[in-house]
Amino acid sequence: MKFFVDTAEISEIRELAATGLLDGVTTNPSLIAKSGRKVLEVIAEICEIVPGPVSAEVAATDYRQMLAEAAVLRKIAPNVAIKVPLTPDGLKACHALAQEGVMVNVTLCFSPAQALLAAKAGAAFISPFIGRLDDIGHDGMELIADIVQIYGNYPALKTEVLAASIRHPIHLIEAAKLGADIATIPPAVIRQLYLHPLTDKGLAAFLKDWAGTGQSIV
Ligand code: G3P
Repeated sequence: MKFFVDTAEISEIRELAATGLLDGVTTNPSLIAKSGRKVLEVIAEICEIVPGPVSAEVAATDYRQMLAEAAVLRKIAPNVAIKVPLTPDGLKACHALAQEGVMVNVTLCFSPAQALLAAKAGAAFISPFIGRLDDIGHDGMELIADIVQIYGNYPALKTEVLAASIRHPIHLIEAAKLGADIATIPPAVIRQLYLHPLTDKGLAAFLKDWAGTGQSIV
């Protein structure tokens, strides 16, 4: 499973890139707003740090304007993936961009039908939002299962399932069990993945016993 980080904070991205575990980055207008920085500058900086796909989202809602914004975003770096909302205009833009060989991430996916449309439009990535479905009392993971199953029925569809709106490690593990290709994960959740109390307890015991030997390896 590929790991993307869902943030526009450069310091977080640098720290995670240094672990060697990061395969890409996703941003959205809310994350850019939170960074307090200019979108073009932030995306350019992220693309220098991470060689994998970096999703930059259009802010327009009409097809022509989406393509105009995509043209600007694409120029930043070859690893920019254009993120478009799952609307009729968004999918039309996705189709046009995909025809030109551009990676497109179709976002705000909340149903299997929407995911099927995005794949037919040539999306490189589909972003089903797990957490936001859970928030309204639906089962976000069921959406991941449905999409993985549907795409699996049609090997000609090359769209990767990018599990998004991940709120905790269990979301990630369940999505991985279902075969989602990628997860985009907030930095705080990535840090949680390392943790287990038995690891801390076991390490403390090893260190105590080792100190008792009086040895050193180097
Ligand atoms: O970037 C899209 C998605 O991951 C947003 O997550 O937590 O705002 O629902 P969230």
